[in-house]
Amino acid sequence: MVEWSDKERGIINSLFSTLDYEDIGSKTLSRCLIVYPWTQRYFANFGPLYSAEAITTNPNIAAHGVKILHGLDRAVKNMDNIKTAYTELSVLHSDKLKVDPDNFTLLSDCLTIVIAAKMGSAFTPETQATFQKFLAVVVSALGKQYH
Ligand code: HEM
Repeated sequence: MVEWSDKERGIINSLFSTLDYEDIGSKTLSRCLIVYPWTQRYFANFGPLYSAEAITTNPNIAAHGVKILHGLDRAVKNMDNIKTAYTELSVLHSDKLKVDPDNFTLLSDCLTIVIAAKMGSAFTPETQATFQKFLAVVVSALGKQYH
């Protein structure tokens, strides 16, 4: 089981309590689709994604980015049981959506970059270390139901 110090819990809770879900969510998913274009294949029914501009102005992408970010709330609320908290979402992404689990890491990296850009110097090395630990646990949990 993953151990979290009080300090780490504090960092994660404060990061999410001040998070601008609309802004960060849309920027994260669109960045992922632009930087790693092969991830676009899962969003073929979301409308045109032929250019960076088409992606960043696509309302379906923006809305889904916000949905993904809210998907992280369940990890924040269940820090001691992240694996179980993601059982259903892991089944969905593997069996139904057939999303390659490597893509979870790519999306996490985009999220880290978008948050770092927004927070600037407030995104300290300690905050980054804790946030990346948190995302690594989420990514592992989302990959658990793949077989
Ligand atoms: C759907 C979370 C990564 C592709 C969803 C939903 C959530 C979610 C909450 C909605 C489930 C529902 O409607 O019941 C997450 C989280 C991720 C992640 C927390 C990683 C941190 C990814 C990645 C991809 C992806 C990397 C593809 C590159 C999809 C697709 C859907 C979906 C295609 C269905 C969209 C639709 O048609 O409505 N995800 N996701 N997800 N996710 Fe993910």
